[in-house]
Amino acid sequence: MAFLYPFVEAFPVYQSLAALSDAQVALFIQNHKYVGAQPPPGPLQNTSTKLVNDENHPYVMPGPKDIRGPCPGLNTLASHGYLPRDGIATPQQIVNAVQEGFNMENRLAIFVTWGAFLVDGNPITNLMSIGGRTGKTGPNPPPPAIVGGLNTHGLFEGDASTTRSDFYFGDNFSFNDTLFQDFINASITYGGGFYNQEAAAELRWNRIQDSIARNPTFTFLSPRPASAFGESSFPIDFLFPDGFHRREGAFGFGRPGIGDDVRVLFNAHPISPGHNEGAGNYVLNPEDPGLAAGSCFIYTQHVNVTIRGLYPNPKGHLRKSLRAGIATFYNAVAWPTCAQLFPYGVDD
Ligand code: HEM
Repeated sequence: MAFLYPFVEAFPVYQSLAALSDAQVALFIQNHKYVGAQPPPGPLQNTSTKLVNDENHPYVMPGPKDIRGPCPGLNTLASHGYLPRDGIATPQQIVNAVQEGFNMENRLAIFVTWGAFLVDGNPITNLMSIGGRTGKTGPNPPPPAIVGGLNTHGLFEGDASTTRSDFYFGDNFSFNDTLFQDFINASITYGGGFYNQEAAAELRWNRIQDSIARNPTFTFLSPRPASAFGESSFPIDFLFPDGFHRREGAFGFGRPGIGDDVRVLFNAHPISPGHNEGAGNYVLNPEDPGLAAGSCFIYTQHVNVTIRGLYPNPKGHLRKSLRAGIATFYNAVAWPTCAQLFPYGVDD
């Protein structure tokens, strides 16, 4: 296997192991400390508001080697030192940071973080990158061997983002000034100068219509409807600028919670799951229940289709780590009747 050594040296410790051969995974494990799956953090004891942009967490401009990605929430936490400033973090650090910095409720934080970590992170080192590969991605999907990080298209990152272009247009993770201007214009036109639910509902609809019209590969299948409406609500739920204080009280899967906000935006302009077959030709996928099915469907689809597709037959330490990570993901699903799945068995 000596010919594989250059691969191990070049392979980032935070990169997903999906699409590697069994021999490459074995070599990666031989050459790195096995950390494996670790338990998630619990909720904050004190969820009252507090200054977040404090003297211990100054903004520092990211350096050339620091990774940033498609999520303004995580980018900000890294640039203020709530996450490692290089943008490489454990899922535990991410949950702690979104709780500490934004008062995101524990189970929603775990659900979103483990949903991302299982497909975009490294189950052996327990690390993930909040961005991914640097550089433009281009209209043609990159070969599977270089996927990794939150920039990876089609696993968590998706089309019709608020201020990021679609993958098809070449850069799905950089902040886009033109789209941000649309964000400001919608806030002025529909929100009286504020980004509120009226502005969010119209902007979300406009972003979807724009992608339908121009992106021949536009895809809006679960979990993207939930994450698209969710990301449109997040600035209202978690961000307010005065000296940046985090919100009073945790916010997430409870009532009122993210589900209520997503429904308000969706009901303003309902759209069924589907995909484009050529620009302007949106074709429905009636087998996808979309938002109506809630977090249980997202969990089931993510485990049975996405994770199993990425890791069809993991072995040894990798199998064990994935099994434990999937259990953590399940425990965060706020759905009492949701059936737990064991794609990699229950023990060795
Ligand atoms: C809990 C861990 C989190 C993870 C793993 C995560 C991940 C992501 C990812 C992958 C995207 C890209 C989705 C797309 O294709 O548009 C995204 C977008 C976004 N996230 Fe997060 N996120 C997290 C928490 C947060 C928090 C706490 C906030 C708010 C404070 C936030 C605000 C946003 C917003 C506003 C967008 C839309 C970006 C845009 O303008 O296009 N996220 N997030």
